[in-house]
Formats: sequence, C-alpha cells, structure tokens
Amino acid sequence: GLPSFVKIVEVGPRDGLQNEPGIVPTDVKVEFINRLADAGLKTIEATSFVSPKWVPQMADHNEVMKRIIRRPDTVFSVLTPNLKGFQSALAAGAQEVAIFGAASESFSKKNINCSIKDSVERFKEVTQAAKQAHIPVRGYVSCVLGCPYEGDVKPEKVAEVAKSLLDIGCYEISLGDTIGVGTPGGMRNLISVVSKVVPLDQIAVHCHDTYGQALANIFAALQMGVKTFDSSAAGLGGCPYAKGASGNVSTEDVVYMMNGLAIKTAGHFISTALGRKSGSKVASATKSS
Ligand code: HMG
Ligand code: MG
Repeated sequence: GLPSFVKIVEVGPRDGLQNEPGIVPTDVKVEFINRLADAGLKTIEATSFVSPKWVPQMADHNEVMKRIIRRPDTVFSVLTPNLKGFQSALAAGAQEVAIFGAASESFSKKNINCSIKDSVERFKEVTQAAKQAHIPVRGYVSCVLGCPYEGDVKPEKVAEVAKSLLDIGCYEISLGDTIGVGTPGGMRNLISVVSKVVPLDQIAVHCHDTYGQALANIFAALQMGVKTFDSSAAGLGGCPYAKGASGNVSTEDVVYMMNGLAIKTAGHFISTALGRKSGSKVASATKSS
C-alpha cells in the first residue's frame, strides 16, 4: 500500500530561482523562504554555494542565509559542489548540504565542469568535512530519465552513480529528472533498478514537469515505496545547464495530491514578485490570479 507519511523537500528558493533571467532581489528571496517556512515546509533548499560566475542568481547566498528567520523545526539546506562551497555554507549556518552529480558524462561536464569520476572524488571531500561538522549530506543524481546532451540514460548507470554517492556518506539520494522527459513506466523501472543498491527509504525523486508527467511520475514512485519528493512552490524551476528544462513539479500540486498542507500563499507571493502566473494547477483552480 501507499505510505501514510511523505516528506516534501521544497526546492523553490534554489532550483526555482536559479534559472530566473532577472536577478531576484535578496529581500524577495528572504521573504519567499520565510513564507515557505510559515506555510509549514520543514526542509527548504535555500540557495547554492556555487560559483557566482556559473550561476549569478545565487551569488547572494551569504546574505540570504544571514537574513532568513531560523526556526527550530525547519532545516535550511544548500547546494555545495565542492569543499570551497561547503566551507562557505558551514560558515553561513547551513544545517544540511547537497552535492550534485549526474548519470550522464556530458551533463556532468556542462554543469560542474568535471567527469563523473572526478565529481565523486570532489564530493568525498565534502562528505568527509561534513561528517566532522555533523552536517547531513544529500546527494543528487541528475539526468536519471534522460539527458539534454546524450538522450537516453540507462537505469544501471543511475544506480551506479547513486551507489557511489551513498558509499561516500550521503544519507539520501535524490533522483533528478532534470529535463522532465520521464514517464511513469520509466520511473517504475528506474526505482526498481536503483532500489537494488540504495534502500527505498533513502531514495527521493526530483521531477521537472517539462512534458506534464511529473505528478504521474511521483505517483509511480510513491507506489514503488518512495517517500520523499522534491517540489517547488508555484512550479518554478529549471537548470541553466539543461536547455529546455521547465519548472519543477509544483509543491501545491504535490501537496494537493498527497492531501496534506496548503501552501498557496508562498507560491502566490513569489509568482507575483516575479510578475508571472503560478505554474501550479491547484493555485489556478482555487484562485483567480
Ligand atoms: P570551475 O570553473 O571548474 O571551478 O567550476 P574551479 O575550481 O576551477 O574554480 C574557478 C573559480 O571559481 C575560482 O575563482 C574559484 O574560487 C571559484 P577565481 O580564482 O577564478 O576567482 N569557485 C567558487 N566560488 C564560489 N563557490 C564555490 C566555488 N568553487 C569554485 N563553491 C564549479 C566548478 C563546480 C564551481 C562550477 O561548475 C559551478 O559552480 N557549477 C554549479 C552549476 C549549478 O549550480 N547548476 C545548477 C544546480 S544543479 C541542478 O539544478 C540539478 C538539480 O536540480 C537536480 C536535477 O534537476 O536533476 C540539483
Ligand atoms: Mg532540478
């Protein structure tokens, strides 16, 4: 049967904003994060400690981390591609970090400028430093159901990369359908292959919604026993190094499907601040804007 509890990882302030063409004011980011926390989201990916030359939108990471209201029941996590990023994140008070690899060599090169093998070596420096600092590390694998440069990606390759991230100390592996090309059949197959090497309760799925399959893919993963799902308020999102990738599945829609919390307010706030309509179907159905 289906699990009685699921965990939602809100990635709006990070994945949702990293690809916005105009620089979003730090004030807006801080207010967005505070509202997400007010709405009851317990794990919020707040920003990235990546190179500002690579992702200018995340250059205000220190300021964002300094200004958000901390709460004892909310974990604020950040992306850290290397030791330099980890050290800055630690100094800024991140409670959790995420490293991000890929199941495709071309995407790894484009996104983090190194091979998959070299990335795991870099990530190991992060997991070792994080262990000493008692900071949990999440591991992303991108391109799990397709790559913008290489097309099809084998589930066995995803499993291999996922296992290597688990082996270096990640507590959870988030499988990213970076360009949103997956379908429920592919998702089922993926989870069955990956769960042979990563326990189901350490697997998360991270669905982009390019082809409108994200909710269906999430439901497929849920039926397979996955209990952790990444989503973004208002369905914002995209990766600057994955052309054509559209937003993440919207948190409102996932929550609606899971019959849980309502976070309409945070999604509405950020959509208004960005001057665009919410990508959430639930928000459109329940509100006139
Ligand atoms: P590089 O150019 O190879 O780095 O980039 P480097 O080590 O050669 O250093 C070059 C310069 O960058 C140096 O500065 C470093 O200090 C600086 P300089 O001496 O030239 O002034 N640098 C940094 N600055 C700040 N923070 C750092 C950092 N590291 C080096 N951490 C690097 C390699 C990994 C840094 C770069 O490729 C990068 O930042 N990539 C990030 C790309 C990114 O953020 N992509 C989006 C997130 S992933 C995603 O969206 C997918 C996901 O959502 C899942 C899914 O959907 O599949 C997670
Ligand atoms: Mg993503």
